[in-house]
Amino acid sequence: MNSVKLFEPITIRGMQARNRIFISPMCQYACEDRDGVPTDWHIAHLGSMAIGGAGLIITEATGIRPDGRISSWDTGIWNDEQVAAWKRVNDFIHSQGAMSAIQLAHAGRKASTYRSWSGHGSEPIEEGGWQSVSSTDEAFEGYAAPRALETDEMRTMVTDWVEAAKRSVDAGFDAIEIHAAHGYLLHQFLSPLTNDRTDDYGGSLENRARLLLEIVIGIRAAIGESIPLFVRFSATDYKEGGWDEQQTATVARWCADQGADLFDISTGGLITGVTIPTGPGYQVKFAEFVAQHVDESVSAVGQITTGKQAEEILQAGLVDVIMIGRAALRDPQWALHASQELGVEIDYWPKQYARAK
Ligand SMILES: Cc1cc2nc3c(=O)[nH]c(=O)nc-3n(C[C@H](O)[C@H](O)[C@H](O)COP(=O)(O)O)c2cc1C
Repeated sequence: MNSVKLFEPITIRGMQARNRIFISPMCQYACEDRDGVPTDWHIAHLGSMAIGGAGLIITEATGIRPDGRISSWDTGIWNDEQVAAWKRVNDFIHSQGAMSAIQLAHAGRKASTYRSWSGHGSEPIEEGGWQSVSSTDEAFEGYAAPRALETDEMRTMVTDWVEAAKRSVDAGFDAIEIHAAHGYLLHQFLSPLTNDRTDDYGGSLENRARLLLEIVIGIRAAIGESIPLFVRFSATDYKEGGWDEQQTATVARWCADQGADLFDISTGGLITGVTIPTGPGYQVKFAEFVAQHVDESVSAVGQITTGKQAEEILQAGLVDVIMIGRAALRDPQWALHASQELGVEIDYWPKQYARAK
């Protein structure tokens, strides 16, 4: 094996992460007051990943506006109170030498649901839910039907994403990720399976990608040149006639032309009733496909659980970053342990934990 890539720093625009281990965005449903304000839980949860040696930590899907949350327990970034609370999270992450990114999200027709331990399906309006919006008025199976967005609502939608990005910079995030995956709003617009529009936002690939592109353009103009912008895609709907890796690669290139810097490649989530062939590293081939079509950085995610496995993916030479999700919930010090597994000396083992090395 050549030098260990997993622990090489990576520079994207004005940000340098100490290694290529990024913590994947993971919803916590922990805003008990249902006000979108991150809590002590978020400091402890995300902070433990920073203590644990990750290069960059991405927040859970965070609503750009109230109706964009998956559930009423999600975090948000539409007001000053949320900005102040995120600043505390970021101050702690930075104190541990890690970088932070926020995943900006709008859940579209998959919004206003219960968290898994509070109920099933859509949360009724009387209990704190709301009318969801989408590219279509067709419901996600088992959920309440959304209202299709009017064409003249699209400008406000873009503005809301851009305002959320500005607030994210004010809150001290080092990078911004646009969530265009997992069947949420932007994926609903991208995929022919959920976009039945006849206006400028439906039909051709260019039209289906228009909302995402307008958001990328708006965010890049608002955040300046030094902050990296990531886009998470689901590279396939696992269904004939749906969104696929070729369309992902094309739209990723368009996003890159407008200032996106990293493509975070996941899969699925748009519809029910499809079989997803999971297994160790099951999405890596999709990340490698996209990497062959763009010059920008690409990350791989999905059942990557050991340092050796992560290193092999990087050594194959196409993917630049590894995202760790559930393995980091099981072991917030995943990165520290991977450094031991791969025999790499790092200078950010926490001093407080030196006796445990
Ligand atoms: C509890 C949990 C919450 C998640 N929430 C999000 C989310 O907010 N945004 C997102 O893009 N993916 C989310 N995911 C998907 C993960 O980011 C990741 O892509 C997926 O778990 C596969 O990676 P893994 O096998 O390393 O866990 C979530 C996954 C889990 C387990």
